[in-house]
Amino acid sequence: MVAVLERQGPELTPPELGRAPVSIEPYRSSAYFELEREHIFKRVWLCVGREEEIPGNGDFFVKDVEVFNASALVVRGQDGVVRAFHNVCSHRCNKVVWESSGTAKQFVCKYHHWTYGLNGALRGVPDALMFFDLQKSDCALTPIYVDLWEGFIFLNFAPRPAESLSAYLGGLGRKLQGYPFARFSAYAKLAATFKANWKVGVDAFQEGYHVGALHRRTIGPQFTSSLNPFGRLISAELFGPHRSGSIWGNRELRPRPTELTAFTYNTPIGSDKEVDAEIVLPPGINPTRDPNWAVEMNVIFPGLFVFVSRQGYILHNFIPVTHELTRWECHIHFTPPRSARQLFAQQFSICAVRDTFVEDGINIERSQEGIRSGAKACLHFQDNEVFLRHQIAVVEDYVRRGAAAGPPGA
Ligand code: FES
Ligand SMILES: [Fe+2]
Repeated sequence: MVAVLERQGPELTPPELGRAPVSIEPYRSSAYFELEREHIFKRVWLCVGREEEIPGNGDFFVKDVEVFNASALVVRGQDGVVRAFHNVCSHRCNKVVWESSGTAKQFVCKYHHWTYGLNGALRGVPDALMFFDLQKSDCALTPIYVDLWEGFIFLNFAPRPAESLSAYLGGLGRKLQGYPFARFSAYAKLAATFKANWKVGVDAFQEGYHVGALHRRTIGPQFTSSLNPFGRLISAELFGPHRSGSIWGNRELRPRPTELTAFTYNTPIGSDKEVDAEIVLPPGINPTRDPNWAVEMNVIFPGLFVFVSRQGYILHNFIPVTHELTRWECHIHFTPPRSARQLFAQQFSICAVRDTFVEDGINIERSQEGIRSGAKACLHFQDNEVFLRHQIAVVEDYVRRGAAAGPPGA
């Protein structure tokens, strides 16, 4: 029997987002994706990592940003400043750094040994006398705009960013300010490439309507019960292009036997228990102070999720490759384990999260197959899918305003 719940509180969907079905074209059209590439991804700030990945001077990592066919070299200089460059040699365009991460005093291109400082300046050119008026100062690595927020490293590929990262993040940045991201420094990384449009991937993570159905064998019991069988949000806030919602947790959860063992040694993400009494959440989290609050879902446009809880946080980043191919990365952050038991319990949680995301990944590709088939012309979003409706409205707004303004940087 299907439970029927009364509506609780006002509608989450503001009137300006409308109520009508949404056109399917932006989720399947390669032409529309080209507009998104120009008017969204080349304009907005994109998260590529965290400062903990490059703690020391000279530490670097390389990040492929497939939506631009770009390879970004992110490095902490000898002065401690984080900089980013296109990982492309000024001589004949080879990739300067082939490793994915490391520590360096300088970068030496393998092809002919042109040498660059950590600040991108061209330092050395073997047999320089044989060049014709080569100006070293014109041949530095090409910089990419970089900015930091709460330890997250963001890049902007515009010729000139329209606004600072802090202005871009606006109210959502302020809401999350002070969350103890650095305390949850132990992490596991999962990654995959989905044969689906990036928005289909994002949408699969920004509603709880599917959790009791698709995830009934995995996380369903943690986030649904007879009290909230359809995973309704506790609250929803929109912050410009970004959004944030409080996720309900089942406080009467009866863990399965292996879960019981694991949960004894590590409090799972989304529980009402603390792992560290010193961890204080910013006041904007769980704005309604609901006792069933489990996790705050925060979506930084276009595709970065920051799920924060008392026990740790989970990041998802969706960056497109093509209109039907999306790179997904997930980081699951905990406090560093204090014992082998806690390490086991954290690994158990990571496996449980992985199983859930396998369900999501398969589901995302099946959705895209249906979208691609052309059988339907529109998607239907209910009130608890308000974030999906907001996402497509923001996408359409960027594309419309970008097309009216001309090329990025103009
Ligand atoms: S391409 Fe880098 S030194 Fe020649
Ligand atoms: Fe899911």
